[in-house]
Parts: sequence; structure tokens; C-alpha cells
Amino acid sequence: MRNQTNPLELGREYIPIDEDAVIQAIEQISLNLLKADYPGNIRPARRDAHAKHHGCVKATFTVETNLPDAFKVGIFREPRSFPAWVRFSNGAREPQADAKGDTRGIAIKLLGVDGEKVLEAEKHLQTHDFTLVNHPVFAIRNAQDYLDLFKLRSKGEKQIIWFFFNGPNPLKWRLHEFGITQAIQRKKIINPLTIQYWSMVPYQFGSLAAKYTVKPTSNADISVDRTAKHYLHEAMKQHLAKQPASFDFMVQLQTDPVKMPLKTPRSPGMRGFHLIKK
Ligand code: HEM
Repeated sequence: MRNQTNPLELGREYIPIDEDAVIQAIEQISLNLLKADYPGNIRPARRDAHAKHHGCVKATFTVETNLPDAFKVGIFREPRSFPAWVRFSNGAREPQADAKGDTRGIAIKLLGVDGEKVLEAEKHLQTHDFTLVNHPVFAIRNAQDYLDLFKLRSKGEKQIIWFFFNGPNPLKWRLHEFGITQAIQRKKIINPLTIQYWSMVPYQFGSLAAKYTVKPTSNADISVDRTAKHYLHEAMKQHLAKQPASFDFMVQLQTDPVKMPLKTPRSPGMRGFHLIKK
């Protein structure tokens, strides 16, 4: 609820009234693209993002004993370990050479998680997923902007540039978004097991909101040919042959609803919130 003294509330999402319709439109375009890419008997249909993986590994996710009370929420409520699967991927829709600029993803699936889940279709599943990529902030501000992007995307990859440079008036160009995509594309990655990942967007955390980051705590002396098409897979293989990989999973709570808004209107002062680096 907005009022003069307390304009925004902690943990509260301010949802535009047309957001459901916008999300449905995005879903429809995604389905149409998938149907066009995989007609009839062309199977299997790949994920329409993060299609190429570098490795999928077994892991243990440990909730530490010394968490402050504010963080004892959901799966973090008591010290324990969960078995997990962790998938490392490139972000592109089509598998491509690892030397090409791309987003790098980590997807963590915890097993043995009790309690009712939020998604209707997954209410009774015993799993919990975290998806993170190797940049702190998402390039798109809101669902409507994402729909604009996807409409162009549905006309072909080359049209995407018009999302950023939309029309003759430079004041309307999405330079902030363009900068984020360029920063992601320019990153040089040697080993998916030794880079940091972020949730980019906030998630509900009890009555509050939080962002996550996963920071590597292991390193291994490896040697890979970075011109090889699948060198990131090779890097993981070499690392794990020498020693296990490990990461710290960190949670940052939203503490200021103005500086850390959950929705990001197109105004320069409100651009989501960044994680404080450790
Ligand atoms: C508009 C927002 C987004 C859309 C429409 C979207 C779409 C998708 C789709 C369609 C997939 C493939 C899912 C599958 O078939 O298994 C996917 C996977 C993935 N997404 Fe997103 N995504 C969005 C935002 C994000 C954000 C903010 C992150 C993390 C910072 C993220 C990280 C990932 C990762 C890591 C995977 C790979 C999952 C796996 O390895 O199984 N995505 N995304």
C-alpha cells in the first residue's frame, strides 16, 4: 500500500495490472517459437534457453548451524544437508562454441525437500530449484519490456538490436539494458566451477524478499584449449578429477524498499538492487 510516509513496503511486489496478460503473451510467443523450431517428429525439443550444458553433477547442499534468525526460513530453517543435482550451462537457445560470448548458468535442484510448494503443478514434489547466472543484474526491467524483446525475437535474432535502439529518439534507447547484455557477452570464462553466479532477480523469502549468489570456494590447476568447442566441459572434468568443487550459497535480504524495489519502473532512480560483494 502506498502512502505519504511509507511509500513502499518491504517484501511487497507492486504488480502492474496487465502483468498476467503480458506473461501469457510471452508464454504464447515462446510456445510458437518452440513449435516452429521442432515441428512434427523432430525430437527431442531442447530447452528454449540454456540448451547446452557443460556438466550435471551430484552435490550436497548444507545449511550451516550458525545462521542468524532472519535467515531461518524455508529450507534454511534448520541445519541439515540436502542431496542435490547441479547443472552448468550456456544461456543461448542453440548449443554453440564455448568461446562465443554467452550467459553461463548454474541450476541447483535440491532433493528431499518437504512441505507444500507454491506452483500448483509441483505442490507435492520433494524438490526445490535455484537458477542463477554469472551476472548480478537482469538486463530486462519488467514483463512488458520482455514482451517487446520477445516480439522482435520472434521475427529473428537480428531484430533484437531494435529492442535497445528503438526509434530515432536517443532518449528512448535502452542503453542501460544494452550495457548489461554487452557486459555479460564480454566475460571470458575458463572454468564454470570457479566463477560467481547471481539470482539476478529477487525471490520471496518468508515475508521478505531476497537475492542469492553462489561464490566459488575451490580452485584447481587446469589447462584447457579455449578454442575447443566444448572446453568448459573439459575444464569441469579436469577440475573434478583433481578435487571436488565447492561454493558458498549466500542470501541477501531486501532491507530498503525504495533503494531495493521489487518491481523496476522505467525511471533512472529505480533499477532493482545489487548484491553487496563479500
Ligand atoms: C524473463 C525471464 C526469464 C525467462 C523467460 C527465462 C526462460 C528460461 C527457459 C525457457 C529456460 C529453459 C527451461 C527448461 O526447459 O528446462 C530457462 C532456463 C534457465 N534459466 Fe531462465 N529465464 C528467465 C530469467 C532467468 C533468470 C533471472 C535467471 C537467473 C539469474 C535464469 C537462469 C536460468 C538457468 C540457470 C536456466 C537453466 C536451467 C537448467 O540448467 O536446467 N533465468 N530460462
